[in-house]
Amino acid sequence: MLDNRPELPPEIARRRTFAIISHPDAGKTTLTEKFLLYGGAIQMAGQVRAKGEARRTRSDFMQMEKDRGISVSASAMSFDFKDFRFNLVDTPGHSDFSEDTYRTLTAVDAAVMVIDGAKGVESQTQKLFEVCRLRDLPILTFCNKMDRESRDTFDIIDEIQENLAIDVTPASWPIGRGRDFIGCYDILRDRLELMDRADRNKVAESIEIKGLDDPQLKEHVPADLLDTFLEEIEMARELLPPLDHKALLEGTLTPIWFGSAINSFGVKELMDGIGTYGPEPQPQSAEPRQISPEESKVSGFVFKVQANMDPKHRDRVAFLRLASGHFHRGMKLTHVRDKKPMTVSNPVLFLASDRELAEEAWAGDIIGIPNHGQLRIGDTLTEGEVLKVTGIPSFAPELLQGVRAGDPMKAKHLEKALMQFAEEGAAKVFKPSIGSGFIVGVVGQLQFEVLASRIELEYGLPVRFEQSQFTSARWVSGDKQAVDTFTNANKQHIAHDNDGDTVYLTRLQWDIDRVERDYPDIRLTATKEMM
Ligand code: G4P
Repeated sequence: MLDNRPELPPEIARRRTFAIISHPDAGKTTLTEKFLLYGGAIQMAGQVRAKGEARRTRSDFMQMEKDRGISVSASAMSFDFKDFRFNLVDTPGHSDFSEDTYRTLTAVDAAVMVIDGAKGVESQTQKLFEVCRLRDLPILTFCNKMDRESRDTFDIIDEIQENLAIDVTPASWPIGRGRDFIGCYDILRDRLELMDRADRNKVAESIEIKGLDDPQLKEHVPADLLDTFLEEIEMARELLPPLDHKALLEGTLTPIWFGSAINSFGVKELMDGIGTYGPEPQPQSAEPRQISPEESKVSGFVFKVQANMDPKHRDRVAFLRLASGHFHRGMKLTHVRDKKPMTVSNPVLFLASDRELAEEAWAGDIIGIPNHGQLRIGDTLTEGEVLKVTGIPSFAPELLQGVRAGDPMKAKHLEKALMQFAEEGAAKVFKPSIGSGFIVGVVGQLQFEVLASRIELEYGLPVRFEQSQFTSARWVSGDKQAVDTFTNANKQHIAHDNDGDTVYLTRLQWDIDRVERDYPDIRLTATKEMM
């Protein structure tokens, strides 16, 4: 242990709960697949990417996702590697889903950042990295596609250090570039890892070497590559910091592995790194006190709700990150917001290709709880103590549109569908206090298309989104009398969100400034904590 926290029970200490962040196309899907392969969760490469029926039943069941090649829904997968239990939480890759991504990152203890060796730090990587930084999440970096023409190794490292303001330490060092790339020197374990170009699924040959003057290097590395490599590694040792575990856990230093996911190269070393250097389950901020993973009582919080994961079953699954304790199937937990007991009799663990009943789970794990809408994002479950996990925000939407059912007789169905998506956190739904209909708010334009596609797919209801007279939404707070006075005087701007909270809708920043000036007892905010 590096800090003063007590030692965790071994079952908790072996858990590593993390997400992968990357720019689309850097290789996240390919890397995930190799993780699952080495974690024994799938038998054969190609299963995650396999097209058709098999693929649809996994995390990306949506037509949209297939058409666009983006991952719009997050799910969690568990697998074992060596002595570790990995929980990999999938983050949606597209920038339009940043709120969902943000909340997903509240459920993990670390992130693996995948970058393309030819492209370096791209825009979406940078954005996601900044979200990780807000929580000081430890980051482990994988520089992918080294089998192709890639940038100079020092260039890549410099770019990460400069653009992301984080120190970088090489965990491995590439030998040769592009077509001449033959493998890596594993700095942490003093080994030579040689990539097999002939067989993509073959794990690299690994040769133990004794220091850089070991004659074996000469045997395996062509002379021209060896000279450059030795020069580079000497420079790297002079210029770059060594691996400092504490700095890694504090999120100020990232180790970088070089590899090629598609060639199964460098992946096991990365997995070893996640296990060896990645953080154990961390304490969770909550009110009125922090929750520690080693506490014997079970607690957890919902960071994601997903409905209709399997269109055949029309179910709704709340993803619960266990913050403490040892959970058993059938446990009775307290739903703190509802103040009601809840027997968790059919929790699911997501084992890559399938769901399985979770007989037990430990702090750090993510379980899915099928339910009928009782569980919402931000909800806390405990063994009775009134605790509320904090730090799971809801952001004001940046785009607002009215929505109408193609068939006006189906207005009730539309309301049901909208409420479900609001509870999933896929959109904000506002009911204006004057007039009928709903206003839907999202962060990016693509979300309207996803919603329209899902409402049609899951509810058989064609819908139209149309321009709204409003462009901004702010939550209204203040004492009851002040809020009543304000809402009565501004009825045409007032709506309620799906939790019943009051919202002020407007087109103009000027209006917001005016309210702040004219109603000093009222607060308009662009975020609210999920309650
Ligand atoms: P993403 O989830 O981050 O968007 O990336 P994904 O894994 O889908 O990979 C994007 C493309 O990069 C895919 O090619 C994939 O095969 C390729 N790729 C992944 N890892 C490597 C690697 O180590 N080296 C090379 N050369 N390519 C890699 P695609 O043509 O878009 O798809 P596909 O036809 O191969 O399925």
